[in-house]
Amino acid sequence: MEYKIFLPVEKLKFSDLHDWSKKENVCKTTTVKLSEPAVRDISDTKILKQENLKKGTVVKCNDEEIALFRHGQDVFAVRDKCPHGGGPLHLGEIEELVDKSVCVRCPWHKWKFDLKTGQVRFPKGHKTEQAELFPVKTTEEGKILIGFEGINPHFFNAMDDIHF
Ligand code: FES
Repeated sequence: MEYKIFLPVEKLKFSDLHDWSKKENVCKTTTVKLSEPAVRDISDTKILKQENLKKGTVVKCNDEEIALFRHGQDVFAVRDKCPHGGGPLHLGEIEELVDKSVCVRCPWHKWKFDLKTGQVRFPKGHKTEQAELFPVKTTEEGKILIGFEGINPHFFNAMDDIHF
């Protein structure tokens, strides 16, 4: 798949994400101001929810709701809708399997999705379902960019609401 465009995640930096690779990280409650009117820019990106840094963060980027997870220096972006039954993956726990692969475990029925391939690692035998992943780049300043095949056409509908 070809990713033609990388859009920045606004108001969220790499260092804001909970690092799931650090076992000593304790659950901290941090609230990001959600009541502020979202500033719409070309990326139409805003933080939707970040109630608890122990959990992944869900952002809206290119009109998609995407869960972000940090594991060490890696940031994984996955559509926030579990392919099994639509569960909110950003509320899932991150697990390192014995082969060192990093998985998100859906909070609803505990299916585990490999965050590098999207494949179901648990339960066995589900080869057709896959979590939808997006490539991520981070800049030296800690900006996070998510890759897409193109601009979502709904993005331009949303632009009609903007008054310049
Ligand atoms: S909805 Fe995610 S495992 Fe069922």
